[in-house]
Amino acid sequence: MAELKVLISRQDIAKRVSELGAQITKDFSGESIILVGVLKGAAIFLSDLARNVDLDSTFDFIAVSSYGNRPSPTQELKSGWDSTGEVKLTKDVDQSMKNKNVILVEDILDTGLTMTYLKKMLFARQPRSLKVAALLDKPSRRKLPLEGDYVGFKIPDEFVVGYGLDYAEKYRNLADICIVPRE
Ligand code: IMP
Ligand code: MG
Repeated sequence: MAELKVLISRQDIAKRVSELGAQITKDFSGESIILVGVLKGAAIFLSDLARNVDLDSTFDFIAVSSYGNRPSPTQELKSGWDSTGEVKLTKDVDQSMKNKNVILVEDILDTGLTMTYLKKMLFARQPRSLKVAALLDKPSRRKLPLEGDYVGFKIPDEFVVGYGLDYAEKYRNLADICIVPRE
């Protein structure tokens, strides 16, 4: 693989995550929250975000997979992944969401299919409030109208890795967000 170009540095990520944490702290002042991370991509973002939130807070995790034939990594890199829009829950949360302030934490909003599905599913459990925090957002790829409530960075339509995001399960441990060249 050709060398990866840094799109967002670890310093810029840290600064923005602390701003998002401060905003959440302010918005939920005096209340408690549950951060629900979408595995695996959001794990690193959630762990940093949580340490920047000064509130009574708990974690939970969910995992999803999409139906349909996942393309090869090379194909996914070239044109993204146009799934059927059907998302399957492979791991549910461990606690009740009823009357809780829930913040869904995702690595990146792309077509919006995953988050739309998850919001609908969790909303049915009658949380007190339901918000979406996403480190990255590729608005130009959206297929369903969806806006994050706490968004770190809007980025162009590039395939990115690092800080939790993968290419064929690799590069999640890079400290910076990098662009994978499409050749
Ligand atoms: P959506 O349902 O299309 O919004 O899917 C979002 C999911 O697609 C993310 O949670 C990532 O797993 C994956 N994804 C989208 N864009 C990228 C990218 O640039 N790099 C790595 N994963 C991505
Ligand atoms: Mg993901």
